[in-house]
Amino acid sequence: VSTVVETDVLIVGSGPAGASAALALSTYGVPNIVVTRYASLADTPRAHITNQRTMEVLRDLGVEQDVVAQATPQHLMGNTTFCTSLAGEELGRVRSWGNDPLVQAEHELASPTRMCDMPQHLMEPVLVNAAVARGTRLRFETEYLSHAQDADGVTATVRDRLRGDTYEIRAKYLIGADGGRSRVAADAGLPMGGQMGVAGSINIVFEADLTQYTAHRPSTLYWVLAPGATVGGIGAGLVRCVRPWTEWLIVWGYDVTAGAPDLTTEYAESVVRGLVGDDDIPVTIKSSSAWTVNEMYAESYANGRVFCAGDAVHRHPPSNGLGSNTSIQDAYNLAWKLKLVLDGTAHPRLLDSYTAERAPIGRQVVTRANRSIRETAPVFEALDGLSPQTPEQLWANIAARKDSTEAAGKQRAELREAIAFKAYEFNAHGVDLNQRYSSGAIVPDGTPDPGFARDPELHHQPSSRPGARLPHAWITSGSRTLSTLDTVGRGRFTLLTGIGGEDWVRAASAQDIPVATVVIGPGQEYEDPYGDWARLSEISDAGALLVRPDGFVAFRYSSAAPDAGELLTDAVRTILGHA
Ligand code: FDA
Repeated sequence: VSTVVETDVLIVGSGPAGASAALALSTYGVPNIVVTRYASLADTPRAHITNQRTMEVLRDLGVEQDVVAQATPQHLMGNTTFCTSLAGEELGRVRSWGNDPLVQAEHELASPTRMCDMPQHLMEPVLVNAAVARGTRLRFETEYLSHAQDADGVTATVRDRLRGDTYEIRAKYLIGADGGRSRVAADAGLPMGGQMGVAGSINIVFEADLTQYTAHRPSTLYWVLAPGATVGGIGAGLVRCVRPWTEWLIVWGYDVTAGAPDLTTEYAESVVRGLVGDDDIPVTIKSSSAWTVNEMYAESYANGRVFCAGDAVHRHPPSNGLGSNTSIQDAYNLAWKLKLVLDGTAHPRLLDSYTAERAPIGRQVVTRANRSIRETAPVFEALDGLSPQTPEQLWANIAARKDSTEAAGKQRAELREAIAFKAYEFNAHGVDLNQRYSSGAIVPDGTPDPGFARDPELHHQPSSRPGARLPHAWITSGSRTLSTLDTVGRGRFTLLTGIGGEDWVRAASAQDIPVATVVIGPGQEYEDPYGDWARLSEISDAGALLVRPDGFVAFRYSSAAPDAGELLTDAVRTILGHA
């Protein structure tokens, strides 16, 4: 008997993209099914750096504290340490991931959330458990095979790997969140730019108490410059903290043209020994796997009723820690749009804004991550470590920096500069937070793009211009202190105004869709005791910001307007694709 299962949204994949799509859709009340090929969620740590924007998304979806409870906190991510082995010589450090005091202040000013290190095998259960608790139906060992779409929906054929048979799932929309080898993206014919398999990498997960070499310089990543380290993906051997300071993941490159080495326990142990540099420490290898570094992005994230998210549409090395962050943010961008189209509030045209908004971000992320790899070369160059080398030669070059000669002084300066330049990988706050959208779901207010006052990759610049994420400011409501970001989200539009904005409040309540209103000012529901909001809002008290369910400003008007009702109605119609 062939069975057809029906749902509104079928999601292929339970990684960060699929799990957060399911969580957001279930939070918004949209029926959805997740199918995933394997019998479990991710069983290795994989992606881990979790940036402030992702934490804001998780805060809106109600799981921020579940993540904080399990993640390694920001202060233990304080450095990136460059060394010859953990027990060996240290070459320098970069204060990382918002732990430089100046950058830390920027982090505190930018968001109510903190960056953290949440390994993927811990993140996925948080997202998936919450999604299932809110209504997602999840099927493990269920493999997507193919799909066909028509005017009303998508029919996907899946294989139950336990029973060995296939069945069909009929959905109104299909989300391909099936990772870097996405079959959904291929079947949907999404055009891809770039290249797969540009370099080879091996992940080795192991247990070892390395406290004596790490706790005094807490880092998420220890970069080991050892002979052979420039081969393959990352440009150095990486010892990554999974759990401080007892569980670790090593990333070690291999020559992709020669193929992956045989991943025996002996091989894994030899790599670990080389990078740790202390043979007396007991080491237990938990797993080894080979993967390739890719440099690919899709030009379009959708074809008809099929949408792809995450690694399915952007594939890049782990530099800057953007993989899972970008995947979660893709899903968050898409989910509210699907909800509003499915419940008839929005025209399907709204969904075009998904590619328009997220494809440029995906491309930027792929470019940045690959550039970060190339920018590691000067660290090796400073040590003359890129030329054909014997280990002895490399050690001699490294030792030479201690000499009291002019050449050694120059070498020290070059090394310091090269390591400090890695801020573009380890402190790129602007890359994390300066996303600006331009699409049919954003109504321009006619103001010119002010550009960025400082380096847009390093520094966050808040803006309330349509297309920017709502700036964070601490405001109060009675004795409660909350972020402006806490007043928006939860699947609905929100209008922010202040004293004199009565026409906007009336206009908001007259819309066909629910628009929450937030009035900020003395004697109002919300107050701005620090004056931060007055400074950041970039509108007068009587002006208005209309914020989308994903926290992005969609419409801005700088003052009171006698025709507020008409202006807001037009804006909402445009955003929802009805204009
Ligand atoms: P993700 O790959 O996480 O999930 C894909 C999902 O689709 C899985 O649930 C899979 O079961 C499912 N699936 C695939 N095909 C299917 C089919 N035909 N039918 C049904 N289900 C299907 N990043 C980083 O920053 N640091 C790191 O160290 C690493 N290391 C690393 C190691 C390995 C082995 C991998 C595979 C990846 C990494 N990454 C990483 C990358 C990081 O994991 C990645 O960016 C995110 O997981 C992307 O999330 P997605 O949800 O898009 O895909």
